[in-house]
Order: sequence, then C-alpha cells, then structure tokens
Amino acid sequence: MVGPAVAQEAAAQAQPQPGPEEAVGGTVPGAALGTTSDADFWRQIRRGVSGVSQQTHQAGGRLIQSSGDNWRAVRNGPVSRYGVWLLIGAVALLAVFFALRGRIRIEHGPAGTTIERFAPIERVAHWLTAGSFVILAITGLNLLYGRYVLPPVIGKEAFAAITLAGKWAHNWVAFAFMVGLVMIFVLWVVHNIPSRVDLKWFAQGGGLFSKGVHPPARKFNGGQKIVFWATILGGASLSLSGWALLDPFTTTMFADTFAALNLVGFSLPTDLSPMDEQQLAQIWHTVVALVMIGIILAHIYIGSIGMEGAFAAMGSGQVDLNWAREHHSLWVDEVLEKERDRQHGHAQPAE
Ligand code: HEM
Repeated sequence: MVGPAVAQEAAAQAQPQPGPEEAVGGTVPGAALGTTSDADFWRQIRRGVSGVSQQTHQAGGRLIQSSGDNWRAVRNGPVSRYGVWLLIGAVALLAVFFALRGRIRIEHGPAGTTIERFAPIERVAHWLTAGSFVILAITGLNLLYGRYVLPPVIGKEAFAAITLAGKWAHNWVAFAFMVGLVMIFVLWVVHNIPSRVDLKWFAQGGGLFSKGVHPPARKFNGGQKIVFWATILGGASLSLSGWALLDPFTTTMFADTFAALNLVGFSLPTDLSPMDEQQLAQIWHTVVALVMIGIILAHIYIGSIGMEGAFAAMGSGQVDLNWAREHHSLWVDEVLEKERDRQHGHAQPAE
C-alpha cells in the first residue's frame, strides 16, 4: 500500500542531503528528506510512511496512519453492532428454547444414589476458568459498550472509576484464565477426542429437543466436546491476541499467520506495520470474545436452570445415578466397571 511512497522516500534519502543553510524554497524544512518538495513531504506524512518523523517510537515514526480511522470505524461500527445482535440473539434463542422445552428433567426421577462426576481438581480448574471468564467478559463488554449505557445512569465520574478498575482487573485476571485453560486442557483432552458415538448423539439432537430420547455418551457428549474445543481454541486465541494488546508493538502474529495462510492459497497482506498488528489484534480479540460469550451463555444455561441435576456435577462433584444414566450411559458403565475391577482387585489378595 505504501510501496511507491517508501521507494520515493528511499530515493530521496539517497540524494546528497543539503544542510539546513542550503535549504531553499520548496525543500523540506530542516532538509531531513533532501530535495523532497514540501508537497511530497506532506503527502508522505498523510500516507503514513514510516520514518518521515524524527521520533523513534515503536509505532514506527508515523505521524498519520489512516488505517487507524478504518480500525475505529470497524470497531465502533459493525463489530459493536453485530456483537449486540449476537448476544441478544443468543439470549433470545435460549428463552425460546426454555419456553418450548422447559427444564430438562431427570425422566426416571432421582435415584437417590450418586456417582462422582468431577474430582476436586477438575472442579477447581472449571471454576478458575469460569470465574475468570465471567470477570473478563463483564469488564471487556464494559470497554466496548459501557460508554453508551452507563454514563447516563451512574454519571461520567463513576463510569471512569469503574472502567479504570475494570481495565486493571481485565489485564490481570487474564492470567488466571490462562492457567485455568491449561488445566482443563490437560485434565479433559482425552475425553474430548471426537468419536463415532458423537455422530449418533448429534443425529438424535442430543436428546435435548424431545422427551424420552437419551443417546448414549461417554464422559462428554458431542455438544460438550464443541464447548470444550471452543473454550480451548477460542481461549488460546483470546490469550494470544490479549497478550499482543498487553505488550504492544512486540509481536508479528498477524503477519506470521497471514504468511502461513498465504501458503494455502490466501493472498493476505504481510507487510503489516506495528500499528496494523495492534489494530488487527484488537478487532480479532473482540470478535472471538463475543462469539465465545454467545457459546458460553448457552453452556451456562444448560449447566444451571436448563437441566435438572446438571449443576451438581460442578457443585459437589456428585451426580444422581439416574441423571448420569440418562445423559452419559457409556461413562456410567465404564465407571461402574472400573469400580467392580477395583473391588475385585482389592478382594483378590484376601481370597
Ligand atoms: C459461570 C457459570 C457456569 C456454570 C453454571 C457452568 C456449569 C458447568 C457444568 C454443570 C458442567 C458439567 C456438565 C456435565 O456434568 O456434564 C460444566 C462443564 C464445563 N464447563 Fe462450565 N459452567 C459455567 C461457566 C463456564 C465457562 C465460563 C467456561 C469456559 C470459558 C466453562 C467451560 C466448561 C467446559 C469446557 C466444560 C466441559 C464440557 C461441558 O460440559 O460442556 N464453563 N460447566
């Protein structure tokens, strides 16, 4: 985009540089660019050519960068607008689902006996990820939308104080989220490898849409595997782009990613300036966060009011045996078989 201007600048710099005393009408003030005319000089500034200014900031010595205007228009325009529709759409869909299907009950009624679903370490990992995600989501949404909603209600001063605290929390809580993410990946990845059982689960809509339908599942069903991989991949992408925003002008993630994508047929720009990198990181971070919040709203719904007996899995770690048989029959068989083997193994030495 700036190629010709850069070439022009390089050519200008190759010229013998007149000293300030030799500067005549039409040459650049201070003669920094040799015989470049005033018009060319200002044009280069307007085009955002790096190095025109003497300042050596990491952003690359640009005085004007028009892509900043485009970035702001995209952030405050389509990204914010479609983000609102996405979140309202997710809540509306869940409300319609609740109105039509109601709370999914344990059809055979509670058995009264329980089975351990998640060990304490798994629950710590889940709540670390979940708690930090909720804080990040609320403080992040405030950064995007707060200014439109809160100042008229609580006043500018209070909004400024809340947003400053929220920004600080957002920066630091991000690390707790990353730790939680690594923990749930390590603990659950083996249970989330896609399998043929998932196809059958999806074919029956997971039994979510009709009573009396309970497709078999192991520890995690097909829908949960989607939530798992969305959390891991979306979370990793949020972490990386968030890192780029926390430590500005130090990464070339987008240029590197675009170069890799170009190898498989894309033709994306790879001569990105440090400022372009920041702007892309901000847009990507926001889009991924909004999509993830939409998915997690559905997850929170089904893990709490949407399904009788589900919350206990992450609350006490113990679930009702009938709930487990209805939603994770193959997993129950595996656990009971292991339990039998264990008892058998313990009993053997005594025999
Ligand atoms: C804040 C409210 C939340 C509630 C009430 C909640 C509830 C639950 C429950 C009950 C389970 C176990 C389901 C089962 O036994 O089969 C679960 C699993 C899980 N949760 Fe959450 N959760 C919440 C937030 C989150 C957040 C924010 C994330 C990620 C950013 C998350 C990621 C996961 C993952 C990956 C699983 C395993 C896969 C799955 O069950 O879908 N949860 N959650």
